[in-house]
Amino acid sequence: MTTATREPRTAAGAVNRCAAILAARGIDPDATPAPAGTAPVTALELADARIPPRYQGVLPDHPRVTAWVAEVTAASSLGPGSTRGIATGPSLLIAGPTGTGKTHQAYGAIRALLAAGVRLRWEATTAADFHAAQRPQHGSDPEQQLWRLARSPLLLLDDLGAAKQSPWTEELTYRLVNHRYNQLLPTLVTTNLPVAELRDAVGDRVASRLAEMTERVILTGHDRRRRTAAS
Ligand SMILES: Nc1ncnc2c1ncn2[C@@H]1O[C@H](COP(=O)(O)OP(=O)(O)OP(=O)(O)O)[C@@H](O)[C@H]1O
Ligand SMILES: [Mg+2]
Repeated sequence: MTTATREPRTAAGAVNRCAAILAARGIDPDATPAPAGTAPVTALELADARIPPRYQGVLPDHPRVTAWVAEVTAASSLGPGSTRGIATGPSLLIAGPTGTGKTHQAYGAIRALLAAGVRLRWEATTAADFHAAQRPQHGSDPEQQLWRLARSPLLLLDDLGAAKQSPWTEELTYRLVNHRYNQLLPTLVTTNLPVAELRDAVGDRVASRLAEMTERVILTGHDRRRRTAAS
């Protein structure tokens, strides 16, 4: 007779397995629900600590952005302690001229998701900062940084196509966008290029994936940084 032997299951192994399951569902294991009796503002406060001061406290007011927030919230799944996480979902491309409020809407969308109770890990970067961080520097690990952004349950990629592109930046953007495209990871992309010009700026492979994976929001109007359109 043979006796089936079981692998000893360590506490660390169990923690790692739980973390992997939560990560796959887009749930931040560190985002514990607020204890009873305290206002559930912790996730928003934590988010605001990472959001540039100019966009702290903002909420989206564009109907297509608020619709995206509602869609992602509805697609979120229940995690431990009644927290909700996101695994896969739609992405948004917010385009429009300089100063029309793209970054405002994008950070607002992240905050609105948190305000709706979706506890998610998120990352935000401009395309230019992403490329700069990929340059070899002492003490940095570009590959690890790329995967941190690529695998983040929610990513804001701000100002895509604003900086001069090269085959190197194009390849990096491709790797980032392609992973998120394949994994159906919700991504907020902003660009001040007309959508028709995006292909020339970021390359056909990136533009093609964005065309399929994102809903488009086109912001119009004057540069909000200037008091009048003429100044
Ligand atoms: N809906 C809004 N309500 C109030 N203020 C807004 C709104 N949208 C944008 N702003 C303000 O207008 C200014 C420009 O907004 P934002 O930085 O989002 O523009 P942008 O489209 O991202 O510009 P760029 O293309 O240069 O990156 C900021 O001061 C922002 O706080
Ligand atoms: Mg911006």
